[in-house]
Amino acid sequence: MKKKILVTGGTGYIGSHTVVELQNAGYEVVIVDNLSNSNAEVLDGIEKITGIRPAFAELDCNDKEGLKALFTEHNDIKGIIHFAASKAVGESVQKPLLYYRNNIVTLLNLLELMPEHGIEGIVFSSSCTVYGQPDILPVTEDAPIKPALSPYGNTKQINEEIIRDTIYAGAPFKSIILRYFNPIGAHPSAEIGELPNGVPQNLVPFLTQTAMGIRKELSVFGDDYNTPDGSCIRDYINVVDLAKAHVIAIERMLENKTEEKLEIFNLGTGRGVSVLELINAFEKGTGVKVPYKIVGRREGDIEKVWANPEHANNVLGWTAKESVEDTIVTAWNWQLKLRERGIQ
Ligand code: NAD
Ligand code: WQD
Repeated sequence: MKKKILVTGGTGYIGSHTVVELQNAGYEVVIVDNLSNSNAEVLDGIEKITGIRPAFAELDCNDKEGLKALFTEHNDIKGIIHFAASKAVGESVQKPLLYYRNNIVTLLNLLELMPEHGIEGIVFSSSCTVYGQPDILPVTEDAPIKPALSPYGNTKQINEEIIRDTIYAGAPFKSIILRYFNPIGAHPSAEIGELPNGVPQNLVPFLTQTAMGIRKELSVFGDDYNTPDGSCIRDYINVVDLAKAHVIAIERMLENKTEEKLEIFNLGTGRGVSVLELINAFEKGTGVKVPYKIVGRREGDIEKVWANPEHANNVLGWTAKESVEDTIVTAWNWQLKLRERGIQ
């Protein structure tokens, strides 16, 4: 058995897929999640896929004493992957303080506790949202950070600064910041996937729910952008590919494969796909029609963004393997599984 890793937010969408990959790679995992945006049944899915039920503590990462007790109980935790955060962009505009507290205090607690518990490294979930609308595409890690368009986006920028300042001040641990583009899809087993709370704000869960008949129609937000078909372009990355990058990042820090105390990587495919192209890929891959209509632009939307993933390709030896065409089918299989389970 390899080292023990704490995964905060480990019953969430990206966290659960990462726990699977960590366990498959031989790591022992402890999950901390307050279940504010996930469900403890996810543990069953992880166990079905890997044969191992990870240790789980229902705990809020704002609770520093609770975290301290956890690190004392599991005194051999060597690394952290910090997914726990609130992530709904629109809600963050309505409830900024909730977002600033939940996304910032949780990180502060972990960083403060790491030295006294001998924890050697932390992987942090950042986002391509820090680039805003980049001037140059594909976007590289040294592109300027643009003023945030939402409190959510601002928390990611602030989190990155907090980590940078802490490391530069001589903290006795390493960090890898991963900037995700648009994670989509589900585990090929369809045992775990994305469980949106209420009406989905993101494209893919809205699309699969519409194809299922749960939603009447998908609204395509704008077809008058400066893109080949007029709809916005994103870099949609398979969630299992994304999860695998975390295993590489943990190993890199904990097995001293890098001298760097702080590194930042884009995690994307390098391919930009428009909203209309994605709908088309879904219809082709599944044979299911998606009723949609073009509506006006969504406020705050970025016109086009996709990654230059070469830094991660070259330095981590990680490349996104799955195509968007195959990945969108895994999202559909997950939606079918949800129906089987009676979850709408
Ligand atoms: P998610 O909501 O599915 O998972 C987050 C998990 O954290 C949930 O299970 C939630 O219950 C838990 N959580 C939230 N606050 C907590 C707290 N205070 N204490 C303990 N647990 C808490 O979201 P996700 O899509 O898996 O995102 C994971 C991370 O990746 C987040 O930090 C998010 O900001 C970041 N990210 C996500 C995307 C995306 O499109 N999904 C893109 C870029 C970055
Ligand atoms: C994708 C595209 C929409 C819904 C958000 C956050 C970002 C990051 C990922 C975490 C856009 C279009 C969507 C719909 C549509 N999260 N769309 N109809 O906007 O790239 O990013 O999630 O860090 O911070 O802002 O993702 O899935 O919402 O939208 O036409 O019903 O689909 O306009 O072009 P986005 P998304």
